[in-house]
Amino acid sequence: MAKEIKVYILFIAFLVLHSFASKAATDGKALFQANCASCHNPIKKATGPALQGVDARVPSKEWLYSWIRNSASVIASGDAYANKIYAENAKTAMTAFPNLKNEEIDAIIVYVNEYKDPNANKAKESGATSEEPSSDNTLLYAILSIVMLMVIFILTQANKVLSRSANAKMGLPSPKDVPYYRNKAVIALFVALLVIGFGIWLTNGSELGRQKNYMPKQPIFYSHKVHAGINQINCLYCHAGAEKSRHAMIPSTNVCMNCHKQINEYTGAETHPLVDLEGNKIDGTKEIAKLYEYAGWDPVKKDYNRDAQGNIKATSPEWVKIHNLPDHVYFNHSLHVVSGKIDCQRCHGNIEQMDEVFQFADLSMGWCINCHRNTNVQFADNNYYSIFKKYHEEIKAGTRTDVKVSDIGGLECQKCHY
Ligand code: HEC
Ligand code: HEC
Ligand code: HEC
Ligand code: HEC
Ligand code: HEC
Ligand code: HEC
Repeated sequence: MAKEIKVYILFIAFLVLHSFASKAATDGKALFQANCASCHNPIKKATGPALQGVDARVPSKEWLYSWIRNSASVIASGDAYANKIYAENAKTAMTAFPNLKNEEIDAIIVYVNEYKDPNANKAKESGATSEEPSSDNTLLYAILSIVMLMVIFILTQANKVLSRSANAKMGLPSPKDVPYYRNKAVIALFVALLVIGFGIWLTNGSELGRQKNYMPKQPIFYSHKVHAGINQINCLYCHAGAEKSRHAMIPSTNVCMNCHKQINEYTGAETHPLVDLEGNKIDGTKEIAKLYEYAGWDPVKKDYNRDAQGNIKATSPEWVKIHNLPDHVYFNHSLHVVSGKIDCQRCHGNIEQMDEVFQFADLSMGWCINCHRNTNVQFADNNYYSIFKKYHEEIKAGTRTDVKVSDIGGLECQKCHY
């Protein structure tokens, strides 16, 4: 019996590893997130066009491969379709991806074509918020596992009967039957499966309440691309909290007015036209006028509107919060940005290329933990870590080359949970 179980565990381990390996090879979603999501959304126009169904509208599959590997050379070749979309997108250059293989591009296209609007799903309350491609093999593996379990059960029963009759023939006593629910091996296997299942559920989370790619409509069409990208305004100018505190914080209209007392029109409409989610053209100058409305600024008088007591008559735009961790999770910006020296972009994507911000990472527990497992802490020159004498000594002795966040307790539940 114990032997069969060993074989079975090996078999499961093989299946799990196999399913991870084959997923990693052609995970279109991961490839899309890593390479394309900073400029493309599957179903909405972003810096580049919405990509759903793109394989049907481009001239050919070959065209698609060469475009993605190097769009500039396709444009330079005088290709009509390439030049048309280039012009339609304000001649914004797309990054070249010379290293992407055909299968990887295919996987990305499959992912964008099967992508469903997470908000639409939520509205339906269907509960089935799966955006995984249907090529997911989980069900197949589950069925296989059940079949294997049944085979093992039958084999052990047969084994028991055979050895019993052999024993009887030779006049030996048979061992007492242990019912399966008291069989230690079976219990151990059951507990192991339960723990693995719970772990998977925990790290992947229930998907419910998560909103990756969430891109709400904001009260003012404020473009990060115009500010942080084209005009190179430092993130910390507006999100100073990211360096000093837990929260990065959204700037007040006072901060906006430092510049916008002077800048009262958007002159970039030619070089960088603004377009919203639904593809409507946005007039940047009108959006600045909305800012004045909130800030209580009169652009003609060049002064604030005041009430009888002389107080400025202002309200704040109600920016819709995009990133939301549940209340039971503790996250600290300055710890990551200052001490950990992590770029905003690693967690938020290429914000400086987004007109409208969307949620780049899924903010799941697995996302935090994966990074903590794989990322080195800035150890050597950091006083904060002088308490870890052992690691310092090991580094000096040459037995350790790096310290991961997990080594300093980054996987401990209470570090992230209240
Ligand atoms: C730096 C921004 C950027 C990145 C990153 C990017 N693209 Fe693009 N993409 C664009 C822009 C802009 C266009 C529109 C054409 C132009 O202006 O060059 C475009 C056009 C396309 C088109 C043609 C769309 C159509 O409607 O015919 C495809 C296909 C495409 N991109 C695929 C990808 C894929 C796949 C990736 C990731 C591997 C990717 N892009 C990454 C900016 C980007
Ligand atoms: C690096 C930070 C981090 C660590 C360490 C961590 N968690 Fe979490 N945990 C999170 C985040 C973030 C979420 C919210 C995930 C979401 O909204 O889907 C979460 C969610 C949860 C949930 C709610 C389930 C869900 O998917 O919403 C439970 C239960 C939980 N964690 C238990 C634990 C336990 C037990 C440990 C220790 C073994 C632990 N966590 C360690 C970050 C962490
Ligand atoms: C001129 C001010 C300004 C600058 C510079 C700026 N931001 Fe913002 N940021 C805002 C405002 C206003 C919002 C709220 C509106 C929105 O979400 O677009 C915001 C929202 C965000 C959000 C979403 C917050 C949420 O609701 O969850 C992130 C993330 C963000 N900014 C990151 C950055 C990064 C990274 C940079 C630098 C590349 C940057 N910002 C530069 C003003 C600024
Ligand atoms: C290690 C990942 C990580 C890094 C690095 C990071 N952020 Fe965040 N950011 C988050 C998470 C997670 C949230 C959601 C926090 C919450 O809901 O409490 C968030 C939320 C925000 C918000 C919404 C307001 C707030 O404070 O909750 C802004 C704005 C923001 N980040 C800007 C920035 C800027 C600017 C930088 C770089 C200077 C940066 N972030 C670096 C993970 C990160
Ligand atoms: C450091 C200076 C600076 C700050 C601070 C600043 N802006 Fe701007 N803003 C600019 C510049 C520069 C332009 C581009 C003007 C042009 O191209 O003609 C611009 C353009 C705009 C536009 C038109 C383009 C677009 O993004 O839709 C709006 C609206 C706008 N700003 C709103 C805001 C808001 C809201 C804030 C505060 C959260 C803010 N700005 C803070 C410098 C600033
Ligand atoms: C991009 C990588 C990355 C991501 C994503 C990330 N972290 Fe971290 N985290 C770090 C690094 C690096 C440090 C070490 C910072 C330092 O040097 O002090 C750290 C440290 C921490 C610590 C302090 C750990 C300790 O032992 O003192 C907490 C708590 C934490 N992170 C919570 C979170 C939570 C919650 C999330 C997800 C919402 C998250 N982190 C996502 C990289 C990341």
